[in-house]
Amino acid sequence: MFEGRITNAPHIPRAQAFLDSGDMIKNPVQVFERYRKQLGHTFTFHFGGARRTVVSTNPAFIEYVLRGNRENFNKSDIQVERMVEFQGKGLVNSHGEAWLRQRRLLARGFQADRMKSLFPMQADVLADIMKGFDSSDSVEMHQLMVRVTLRMVGKSLFGRSMGDTELEQIGDTISTIQAFIVRQIVQPYKMPWFRISGQSEKHQQLRREADQIVLRHIKARREEGTGESDFLKLLLETPYHDTGLPMSEEQVLIESLQLMVAGNETSSNALTWIFYLLARHPAYITQMQEEIQEVMGEGEITYEGLQNLSLSRRVLDEALRLYPPFWMIDRIALTDDEICGIHVPAGTLVVPYIYGTHRNPEIWDDPETFDPSRFEPANKKGRPALGYIPFGAGPRVCIGKNMAVMQMLLIVASFVRSYDFELENDTPVGIRPMMLLRPDGPIKMQFRPR
Ligand code: HEM
Repeated sequence: MFEGRITNAPHIPRAQAFLDSGDMIKNPVQVFERYRKQLGHTFTFHFGGARRTVVSTNPAFIEYVLRGNRENFNKSDIQVERMVEFQGKGLVNSHGEAWLRQRRLLARGFQADRMKSLFPMQADVLADIMKGFDSSDSVEMHQLMVRVTLRMVGKSLFGRSMGDTELEQIGDTISTIQAFIVRQIVQPYKMPWFRISGQSEKHQQLRREADQIVLRHIKARREEGTGESDFLKLLLETPYHDTGLPMSEEQVLIESLQLMVAGNETSSNALTWIFYLLARHPAYITQMQEEIQEVMGEGEITYEGLQNLSLSRRVLDEALRLYPPFWMIDRIALTDDEICGIHVPAGTLVVPYIYGTHRNPEIWDDPETFDPSRFEPANKKGRPALGYIPFGAGPRVCIGKNMAVMQMLLIVASFVRSYDFELENDTPVGIRPMMLLRPDGPIKMQFRPR
């Protein structure tokens, strides 16, 4: 037994952590960065002055938690409990056998041949949006990217028959509920008030309305049989490996909404940062335009073509290094453990800290600088694999990684090919990390057709 304390890692005194809890609510990454710079790659503190936490940017530590001894680290109750209340139990928030069963089935939807067959629909959705894109006025990038990815993810999940208005209602409901979940996490003492004031019920009602939209689609697809090769088809038809039966309607509803949550805001935030970084480093816009011309000529952007955009891919990888949408992964230690020599008692919150890992000077030269050449094959040699983890690692690695990369490359390449763009304002934009790493304020751009 480790006597309930972590005694052998650099730590922030409890009183200091308590004093920092206000800053932690406003911008946890800023506080984590302060601790990291003060204490090094692995440190401990009491989250909110109360909860024992160990944070690490050490690839060996992260390897142990996400791969080596992963059975001892469940997703933390912070995520799971609050999510179950609104989203039910699906792939994202289950464990053990139940998780493996869902993962096996859903993984089929993300295989390379599926991605390829989804591509034409994604390209059509984007072409439609770009036709209506008005470049005469300034554009707020986060809003635009939320709109683009909502439609692309939404239509890949539910097919073309899901209308844009319905998708927007689902998207708005998801954002409202996410914001409410964050409030519950950062202000747990207000929980009774949320219930008494009717706020909890108001959010449940919103969820029920969104559920009804999705259920209508599920039922219609059941009755009509299937046409399109979207996720709904897969979820409705694929049998479990053990029972040979497909998922229940209720489970299809949960999984499709969870995929929508996991796949929409992550990509839209990443894309916002990619455009922001490109606008701050316009030489890369020109280089990307040259690359796209070389690979695709004047022809359409194709699935195969995207695989050959190596510079564009490096830009994307570097943007995900500096601004990983998931800035951390949270786990809870089920039993006492020892990670890289650090005693971790059962119940400790264990945090592979992605944002800090991507800026750890032991892994990256000049970590604050935007430099896509880091991802050239020769420059990657010798870097620990778990020094770069925007999609997580181990068996719970992002299931949608290939889809996300395909979508993001398609969107960036399409805009870069058709437009030059610049920021309206030179002032650097800060970060506002909630569940995901969002920009701290609007990112306004001017687009000029080429
Ligand atoms: C830039 C875009 C994205 C990023 C950075 C991202 C990042 C991540 C990360 C870090 C995890 C691991 C979380 C953990 O271990 O606690 C994860 C899991 C997951 N992601 Fe993504 N993701 C992205 C896009 C997508 C898309 C497009 C989808 C699906 C449409 C998706 C679906 C999921 C699911 C279902 C999980 C849970 C997997 C499991 O627990 O087995 N993600 N993602």
